[in-house]
Amino acid sequence: MTLTIAARAANPATLNTPLLVVLLPAGTELPAHLKALDKAIGGGIGRTMRRGDFRGGRDESLHLSGGSRGPRRVLLVGYGTASDRPLALRRAATLAARQANRLGVGSLALVAGTVDGREAEQVLVGLQLGCWEYLDLRTPPPENERRAPLADATLIAENAKTLSAAVDAARAIGAGYDVSRRLAQMPGNLCTPDLLADTARDIGKRHSLKVTVLGRREMEREKMGSFLCVAQGTPQDPKLVAMEYRGGPKGQKPIVLVGKGLCFDTGGISIKPAERMEFMKFDMCGAAGVIGAMEAIARLALPVNVVGVFGATTNMPSGTAVKPGDVVTASTGTTIEIINTDAEGRLVLADVLAWVKRFDPAAVVDAATLTGACVIALGNTTTGALGNDDALVAEVVGAAKRASEPAWQLPMFDEYRELIKSDVADIKNTGGRAAGTITAAMFLREFVSYPWVHLDVAGTAYSEGDLTITPKGPTGVPTGTFIEFVRGRAH
Ligand code: BES
Ligand code: MN
Ligand code: ZN
Repeated sequence: MTLTIAARAANPATLNTPLLVVLLPAGTELPAHLKALDKAIGGGIGRTMRRGDFRGGRDESLHLSGGSRGPRRVLLVGYGTASDRPLALRRAATLAARQANRLGVGSLALVAGTVDGREAEQVLVGLQLGCWEYLDLRTPPPENERRAPLADATLIAENAKTLSAAVDAARAIGAGYDVSRRLAQMPGNLCTPDLLADTARDIGKRHSLKVTVLGRREMEREKMGSFLCVAQGTPQDPKLVAMEYRGGPKGQKPIVLVGKGLCFDTGGISIKPAERMEFMKFDMCGAAGVIGAMEAIARLALPVNVVGVFGATTNMPSGTAVKPGDVVTASTGTTIEIINTDAEGRLVLADVLAWVKRFDPAAVVDAATLTGACVIALGNTTTGALGNDDALVAEVVGAAKRASEPAWQLPMFDEYRELIKSDVADIKNTGGRAAGTITAAMFLREFVSYPWVHLDVAGTAYSEGDLTITPKGPTGVPTGTFIEFVRGRAH
């Protein structure tokens, strides 16, 4: 269910709400704008703060009872000593929405003192992220045990009238994240290449985007031997999908967003160990990010041309699957020796990256759950960023920061090219254990002929455990990075 969000001016002290969320910075002093509220509920907030029970630290929260009128409950959530207030508020709002969702209050109001447009937007995005759940496949509990999910949230601010653009933007971004996370959480038997293509078509219909879908036959005609060798082990029809949003001037070169869409990655003949293999349903998070970002970009009606593209298939071992030692030919004519069939994402992206040249892109940003090596290098909270244009990499890293999806650049020195030389073909599909994220990007670079950034989101797209603000499951990365990158170009 999607959260209804709004902003309005009101007196928090007399507000009739089941839950009032109060976001507070680090400190033990009751802020002036909360004095009336504190008095109305009997002074509990001030006392709690003076005692030091609640200090406004990052991720700190305290649930107080309100009165029988006005706010019935008060939830204090701290955001610490933030250097970036919008992002700190967003994090606190996410935490608040998670708790509200568990409480089953159905609706909340939130105060954070004076907020500007960007802060309001981030708070409202945070609330939507916090109450996201994927319940489609669960039998609901009996009626009397059900708790109301958080359904509506209102930001209380004096300047609410000036915040309507922020509310609209937050709705668009929230809708984008919803699309991505839902797809990412769906199991591989439901989230198939067909379903991804249908989702793209549906978004296209709603927002008048031109959607092009290539299947196996069309890709054979394009001689995409690299993409197709991954798809040859599965009976599912692979899909190469392009969603064209034309919000900018005619003739303006588009930004192209590209995603890896492996609906499941068993590893193929180089099969992965059974333990935690189920997690590999997440291997389409790059594609999910593209699809969700296109939803948001269309809703935001950004004055810029954007093409969202993804390659979708499933990597399976079978009698027809590609084998180690096989040599395939990509659409560019480049021959590739397959060393490990589990390095399939780069094989799919090779033909997709070559294909997007037809759009004459101003810049291409791809996102892929590409290497386990990236998880070792940067962990689960930082995305790897690599590219052939340092200014563009910096621009994308900046966008990632604004989206609260931090990224960090890794080098692409020419020396690494040695590692993907093959004995029999032009290149091979793995470069060994050393610098695995970089050699994967070096492989992709062979198929790129425009300004380009590659985001390795293997560690950041999905969390294997609860991360305070994100439950176990899809985080939404790289959706926000794509959206912020495009917004940055739209100004
Ligand atoms: N989808 C995986 C990347 C991955 C692995 C993400 C583990 C998160 C956790 C990708 O297709 C893959 O299997 N990569 C291999 C490449 C290797 C064979 C060169 C890897 O990282 O092990
Ligand atoms: Mn793989
Ligand atoms: Zn993969």
